Amino acid sequence: MNGRLRLGVNIDHVATIRNARGGPHPDPLRAAHAAARAGADGITAHLREDRRHITDGDIDRLMAEIDLPLNLEMAATEEMLSIALRHRPHAACIVPERREERTTEGGLDAAGQFDALQPFVGRLTDASIRVSLFIEPSEAQVAAAVRLGAPVVEFHTGRYAHVEGEERAVELKRIADAAALATKNGIEPHAGHGLTYDNVVPVAAVPQLAELNIGHFLIGEAIFIGLEDSVRRMRGLMDQAR
Ligand code: PXP
Repeated sequence: MNGRLRLGVNIDHVATIRNARGGPHPDPLRAAHAAARAGADGITAHLREDRRHITDGDIDRLMAEIDLPLNLEMAATEEMLSIALRHRPHAACIVPERREERTTEGGLDAAGQFDALQPFVGRLTDASIRVSLFIEPSEAQVAAAVRLGAPVVEFHTGRYAHVEGEERAVELKRIADAAALATKNGIEPHAGHGLTYDNVVPVAAVPQLAELNIGHFLIGEAIFIGLEDSVRRMRGLMDQAR
């Protein structure tokens, strides 16, 4: 696959800023519309157990009011499953979640939690929701995703983003190898976490990757250049890499 790489814009941190004051501004819905105008292919939102950014009301409004497909990031809990089944978003990305973490700090252990994850993958799939598993780019995790029957995996690029030089080259190779393995097994590979203008191009050049999900950097950059320009510039870098 070497076609157009899709960009999912994660709007969680618009809600983080809104929630700092408890009012309605800035509105994540308005951000979703701006991202759409700037060429985003999808909107991603993580409804966390503690509702620290995106709220249930945001998910209601995103489902009702945006035209782009919604990728709902969720922990594998009964509460989140029932919310996903009620809304039936285009996709659900199952992520690990720990209350004390600042962000999703590592991939899901699909291999270690195989039995616990199986019913979630099954019930979401039965509801025609495209299941994605947010995993580390490793052979063992891709193999577990294959056995779980997930149609999509998203590789956690956090480690790639946080190291430099030779170590970064090693991480990039892990992502490329895992993407090739996923594709060979009929799974569509995506990637995300910690991607910026400075580090996105080598990841976007991995030919099997079909989608990148990017949030924190785009929302931060929007403070300086506006959200539409921030998304457009990322879109341009991704297109150049192909
Ligand atoms: N993909 C997934 C599954 C995520 O959980 C997140 C946010 O943690 C992202 C992508 C986007 O990461 P970032 O906000 O660092 O761009």
